[in-house]
Amino acid sequence: MATWSAPGKIFLFGEHAVVYGKPGIAMAIKPRVMVTVRKAKRQKKPNSSYIAECFRQMGVLGSVYVRSQLPSSSGLGSSAAVTVATLNAINDEFDMGKSLEELAGIAHTVEKNIQDGRASATDTYVSTFGGMVLITGDAKRRLPPLQMQLVIGNSLTHHSTSSMVARVAELKRKRPEIADPIIDAIAAVTTCAMHHFNNPRELGNLMNMNHALLDALGVGHPQLSRLVLAARAAGALGAKMTGAGGGGCMFALCSKSAKTRVAGAIEACDARAIITGIDTQGVRKEKDE
Ligand code: PMV
Repeated sequence: MATWSAPGKIFLFGEHAVVYGKPGIAMAIKPRVMVTVRKAKRQKKPNSSYIAECFRQMGVLGSVYVRSQLPSSSGLGSSAAVTVATLNAINDEFDMGKSLEELAGIAHTVEKNIQDGRASATDTYVSTFGGMVLITGDAKRRLPPLQMQLVIGNSLTHHSTSSMVARVAELKRKRPEIADPIIDAIAAVTTCAMHHFNNPRELGNLMNMNHALLDALGVGHPQLSRLVLAARAAGALGAKMTGAGGGGCMFALCSKSAKTRVAGAIEACDARAIITGIDTQGVRKEKDE
C-alpha cells in the first residue's frame, strides 16, 4: 500500500493570456488530495475517469482510496492533484522507478486524454513540483517561493474551462482589435508583477487590474466580482478571479491581520472561504495508515 498527496493551485497572474503564449504565474496552495493505492488482482472500477486513465497509462491493476481537501471543478486544480498523486502512488506501490519529470509528463497525458486534448501542462506541473512557476508557452521556470497570506473564495458556481477558453477565442476572432490589446495588457501586468514580488501593495493593485482585464475579456461572473469587491472592502490588498472564470474561485492577497476579516466577508456572500498560502512542496509520500 502507498499513500501520496499532491497540492492544488491558483493562477496568480496571466490565465487565458497563457493560452496565446503570453507569460502566466501559477502557485501551489496548501489544500491537498491524498491517494492510497494498493496492488490488486483485479482492477476495482475507480469512480474517477482520471484515476482509471492513470492505471491504464501505468499498465497495472490496483485499488484506490482518495481523500480531498480541494473542491472539484472550481479551478483549484483538483483533477491534476488527483492524477499526480495517483501516478506517484502507483509508481511507488509497484516499484516502477519513474522520475518526477516522467510522472509529470504522464500526468499531463492523462489530463489531455480525459479532456479531449485540451489541457495545459500548468496544473500537473505545479502539483508535481509545488512552489511558484512562470509559464511561457511550453516553457516553465520555477520562481523563488513567496510567502503570502491568501484567502480563496469559492463561488460554489461550477465552471467549464473549455467553454471559457472558447469564449475568448471567439472574441479574438470577432473583435481582434479589442481582444488582442486586452491580452497584451494582461501579459504586461504579469511581467510587471515579476518585478514587484517584494511589494504586496503593488502586487495587490496588479491583481485588481488583472481581474478587470479578465472581466473585459468576457470571462467574469457576477458572483466572482461580488466576492472580489467584498474582499477589497474588507481590507484585502488586492483580489482577482483565478483560472478560467465564469464561476469557480477568486482569491485575495491580505495582510496577516486582515485575513480573518476578508474570509468573513467572503462567507457573508454565500461563498466558501479557504485561508491558505503557498505550498513549496509538490507531490509527496505520506505515512500509510
Ligand atoms: O480554471 P483552470 O484552473 O482550469 O485554469 C484555466 C487557465 C486557462 O489559462 C484559462 C487555460 C489554460 O489551459 O491555461
